[in-house]
Amino acid sequence: MTLILGIETSCDETSAAVVEDGRRVLSNVVKTQMSHKDFGGVVPDLSSREHVQYIYEVIEEAVLKAEISISQIDAVSAVNGPGLVGSLMVGLTAAKGISLRQNKPFIATDHVKGHIYGNVLTSGYPEYPSLSLVVSGGHSSIFLVDKDFETREIGRTLDDAAGEAFDKCAKMLGLGYPGGPALERAAEGGDKQFKKFPISKLDGFNFSFSGLKTSVMYYIKDEGAKSVSKNINDITASIEYAIVEQLIRTFLKAYAVHKTKSIMLAGGVSANRLLRRRFEDEFKKRGVSVYIPEMRFCTDNAALTAGIAYRDFIKNKFSPIDTGVYSRS
Ligand code: KG4
Ligand code: ZN
Repeated sequence: MTLILGIETSCDETSAAVVEDGRRVLSNVVKTQMSHKDFGGVVPDLSSREHVQYIYEVIEEAVLKAEISISQIDAVSAVNGPGLVGSLMVGLTAAKGISLRQNKPFIATDHVKGHIYGNVLTSGYPEYPSLSLVVSGGHSSIFLVDKDFETREIGRTLDDAAGEAFDKCAKMLGLGYPGGPALERAAEGGDKQFKKFPISKLDGFNFSFSGLKTSVMYYIKDEGAKSVSKNINDITASIEYAIVEQLIRTFLKAYAVHKTKSIMLAGGVSANRLLRRRFEDEFKKRGVSVYIPEMRFCTDNAALTAGIAYRDFIKNKFSPIDTGVYSRS
């Protein structure tokens, strides 16, 4: 039995988890920072400061909830990128400190791969190669994942990420932060055909959401606040539809070329119910195994790093203590 303590501080979630053998989540404590609400987006300086404030109590709680003592862990992992550099440093430094103090190996993990691993925590390993759609606040990419869980990016956004598109549209509509869940709530039961917002169709398997953002901006300006507020349900349903359709149509195009036996959805936006439904409906009928992460493994959480670190652990692949952080992949 291998116990890994994982730490995640790449953005605005301070999180620590204990995962057994890369599969069984014994604890997963997530503290979402609320101070960014007033600014309508994540403020990097505030984020690192809050991580410093909460990191040790979050780790303590994760160990307590797992009903183990810190000396029982076999390794400690932390996400070292991509993400906000100052924020990543907090989790990484805490993990290194524990590694040195407890004399246990340290494993740095990639945030994006961790998101994909949320599917393994949910349903076990897929058949390889697997095609994965990763959609979060920082990423909209399509990856081929091989048996060693190595990833090859075959498509990505040329401008905003899907989560960013949700967040920016929600902000323009005054729906608050975080925008994705707020926009989804506002769209419930609305008419998705109310307004035809652009659905970009690019070469290859790339995405673009800047046209949608501009179109929403002009729509709000032209219609005026009163009309927008009256039709908010239908407008948000139309925006949600445009984002989800672009993701599904592009992913279908990638699948038509690569025809993998399994596909995996990942990242914060995979919490979106319309996307989950469309992903499942489109691909189940094609006979492909569809992997969708449990809700608790969609947005940022440390079980993802503690889970994927196990793959390195069993290969004795440990990270040097001077491992640094990176902001972009
Ligand atoms: O993976 P994540 O927690 O952080 C990053 O790695 O970026 O993803 C956060 C993103 C945010 O943009 C948030 O608005 C979006 O995921 N999100 C959603 C939903 N829940 C979170 N977008 C649409 N519908 C949701 N239910
Ligand atoms: Zn993330």
